[in-house]
Amino acid sequence: MKIIRVQDQLEGGKVAFNLLKESLAKGAKTLGLATGSSPISFYQEMVKSSLDFLEMTSINLDEYVGLSTENAQSYNYFMRQILFDAKPFKKNFIPNGLATDLEAEVKRYDQIIAEHPIDFQILGIGRNGHIGFNEPGTSFEEETHIVNLQESTIEANSRFFTSIEDVPKQAISMGIASIMKSKMIVLLAFGEEKADAIKGMISGSITEDLPASVLQKHENIIVIVDEAAASKLA
Ligand code: GLP
Repeated sequence: MKIIRVQDQLEGGKVAFNLLKESLAKGAKTLGLATGSSPISFYQEMVKSSLDFLEMTSINLDEYVGLSTENAQSYNYFMRQILFDAKPFKKNFIPNGLATDLEAEVKRYDQIIAEHPIDFQILGIGRNGHIGFNEPGTSFEEETHIVNLQESTIEANSRFFTSIEDVPKQAISMGIASIMKSKMIVLLAFGEEKADAIKGMISGSITEDLPASVLQKHENIIVIVDEAAASKLA
């Protein structure tokens, strides 16, 4: 794991964007994208740039079950607002949280991932070490699946909803096995609430209790952290 310490999220977004440009120069065609607040400055750099993504495909990590694409809290809505409306892609894939047959949706998404190998994957990290919505205890072998969100995740994500009761209890998430197949991974973490997860991910043992720890096994991962998120590292 290569660790890059930055001053703040703004600088982190610029560093991540430069890494993206390097990948694009090497021919990257498929981007794996994440939601949450951590990648926002990275997306802003993409939007500000003169690059176009018309020949590129994106695959998002996850989506809440039960939210329509017009719900402002859905990840589909978030991605359009933050990136896709300003920078159209050839194709954007996001799980369909309103699918009536969730098992069929899981299979469809695995098929999409198999057909579009991810060249460059952006990740955030949950306070409990989750990546995508792969909560502690998720098998490292798992592909796309339906997740029952943990209380701590529901609570952390409730800041985006009117009340905690509005936070969906389930999500569809790309699995850890698929994330690990990405050619390159850039993980962003800012703020002291991420310090424990970052410490466990980088210097703890590799365990399904802390999903992000699996990333120690990835051969091409760069972790971008601010001082607060890095504060518990030796
Ligand atoms: C959600 C998302 C994750 C994200 C995490 C952290 O649970 N499913 O992909 O990494 O939140 O979000 P934030 O970057 O806002 O702290």
